[in-house]
Amino acid sequence: MYYIGIDLGTSSLKALLVDRDGKIIKEAAESYPVRYPKEGWSEQDPADWLVAAERVLDALTQGIKREIGGISFGGQMHGLVLLDANDEVIRPCILWNDGRTQKQTDYLNGVIGKEKLSRLTANIAFAGFTAPKILWVKENEPENFRKISKIMLPKDYLAYMLTGVHSTDYSDASGTLLLDVKNKRWSDEMLEICGVKKEWLPALYESDDVIGKVREKYGMPNAVVTAGAGDNAAAAIGTGTVKDGDCNISLGTSGTVFIAGDRFSVDGKNALHAFAHATGKWHLMGCILSAASCNKWWTEDILQSKDYDAAEGSREKPGKNSVYFLPYLMGERSPHNDVNARGCFIGMRPDTTRADMSLAVLEGVAFALKDCVEVAASNGIKVKSTKICGGGARSALWKKIIANVLNVEVISPETEQGPSYGAAILAMVGNGEYPDVETACAKLVKPLESVLPDAETASLYAERYASFKKLYPALKDFFNGK
Ligand code: XUL
Repeated sequence: MYYIGIDLGTSSLKALLVDRDGKIIKEAAESYPVRYPKEGWSEQDPADWLVAAERVLDALTQGIKREIGGISFGGQMHGLVLLDANDEVIRPCILWNDGRTQKQTDYLNGVIGKEKLSRLTANIAFAGFTAPKILWVKENEPENFRKISKIMLPKDYLAYMLTGVHSTDYSDASGTLLLDVKNKRWSDEMLEICGVKKEWLPALYESDDVIGKVREKYGMPNAVVTAGAGDNAAAAIGTGTVKDGDCNISLGTSGTVFIAGDRFSVDGKNALHAFAHATGKWHLMGCILSAASCNKWWTEDILQSKDYDAAEGSREKPGKNSVYFLPYLMGERSPHNDVNARGCFIGMRPDTTRADMSLAVLEGVAFALKDCVEVAASNGIKVKSTKICGGGARSALWKKIIANVLNVEVISPETEQGPSYGAAILAMVGNGEYPDVETACAKLVKPLESVLPDAETASLYAERYASFKKLYPALKDFFNGK
């Protein structure tokens, strides 16, 4: 039997075909656009995801449709997909990095109150979360709100189109701010606050639960579909981040620091998200909104180049660069929770080169990740080593910078495609190839290489991080027009 893991990402949909021993047999990917209709907004058309999914499924299953045993998903989190009574998409999906909901986020955090939100959901409101977006549609597009018959998250839309089953899993549902994360059930009080009817919401599953079979028209009679996970929980499975205290960094469009936990716990300041894991347990997570996307923007849009290694020209500089980059192109989630923050270069001199600025971009993202690791440290969680995955993890230099900035060992598994590999593992467990996710990870996920910090560079970076930390507070009022 073969299994398919689909990663519904922000820039593209990537999928892997693996055999039951986890060997990658084939890969396929399809890109689609993100639309920014107004400053700070970001949307995608769910129809684009479905076209991409059908194309990759076609490419991966040619000649072996009967041998496909299962399909699962890792998906970009928090996106609001709305269907009407005829199952038509009502409006474009409002994505995880969309910043339009400042007013609704302020209402939830300020009027309903952070303490109450945290008690009901284990989290506070961030602009990208689903609940403030529902309130936004209610206030700004009442005609669309009236049409709602189903609410779903991005990967759940694909699962629905493939199976006809309206489902979600606990890891992804955690990011809606409608789930009572600790007790793994929808929070009636939150539904009331947001004007959401329970029948609009999907049924809740563990990530490796089978939700149904693939519709006949796709011609895969033996394939079961498992619920899947939010892309970060799926990536954690794909990198074997399953034991208490294990850490994974994902360097995709967003950057995340994901710390697995055996017990449910909440960051005292709610700067980190307290979500369910795809193992059935828990995790804390910091999310920066722009990570590999900063390097893509800088390299392709600004330098008009495809040379992602431009920072290599700054070989002498790691730890000594005078230039700082704040990676807040789409505002920032963790830990600042500020939709108005923006990207900046600071500290250029007449001898500053293009390579120094390219290096600053990689460093700025690493410092922002350190901001999240510091919050974890303030909760008594000491990260000693981390796995890494995502497109940015293909850069040896970036991994070295992260190892030195965080002063931890950075371990790359055999595949950097964490979410799709994790989804394939969930598909295998769902079809009974392995008894549970942790056993499957122990068997299938292997480290490829590790980067250790170097004491001298790490101490230079500690000094630079102390300066980096002063920049956001100094600019906060400027960003917010005060
Ligand atoms: C996590 C988050 C992002 C998206 C990106 O909270 O918003 O990592 O899941 O795909």
